[in-house]
Amino acid sequence: MATSAKTQIIDMLKADHKKVKKAFKDFEKMDPQAESESAEALVEQTLAAIEVHSSLEEQIFYPAARSAIKEEDLIDEAEVEHMTVKVLIEQLKSMSASDDKFAATFKVLGEYIDHHVKEEENEMFVQLTRPGVGWDAVLEQMQTQRAQLLEEKGLPPEAEEATTPAGRSSAGSRASRSTDESRPQAASRSSKRSSASEKK
Ligand SMILES: [Fe+2]
Ligand SMILES: [Fe+2]
Repeated sequence: MATSAKTQIIDMLKADHKKVKKAFKDFEKMDPQAESESAEALVEQTLAAIEVHSSLEEQIFYPAARSAIKEEDLIDEAEVEHMTVKVLIEQLKSMSASDDKFAATFKVLGEYIDHHVKEEENEMFVQLTRPGVGWDAVLEQMQTQRAQLLEEKGLPPEAEEATTPAGRSSAGSRASRSTDESRPQAASRSSKRSSASEKK
């Protein structure tokens, strides 16, 4: 049986969560002062990934989820949390690795997102049981918008891959342009731009 559109959406969002969580873990192993360039690249890329994810949720997923969920309060809470995430993102964007609070701010963002993600995965996603939502259309909209946002942000187009976490081990051989692992180190502001302007 084909995976339902709703499940595909949830899998896509969960794959994003996992990826972002890994980025925060990677950052913890770094010394932002000594490896300022890679630390900044990792932060910059993580912020961009969070922005894409948040925007998809806010513009497409949450409105649909609102019609499908039992406790609508959960959506309100999530939207408020996104606003706080944005404040932290804006602060980080104006910082560099030499900033006193750079690592601390990124860490707090990670802890905050961790809490937010737990609520989404353990409460919101499991409560989307009310019928009548056209999840097929929602999925399609999210995929289109995702591809567009990734391109705008100069992030690699990995939407298909993200929906199949089991097949991730092969990602390295497939994505010659960049992989999750190599990108933060390799990424510089100039290389990001070039992938943004590149059409597939
Ligand atoms: Fe969210
Ligand atoms: Fe999320």
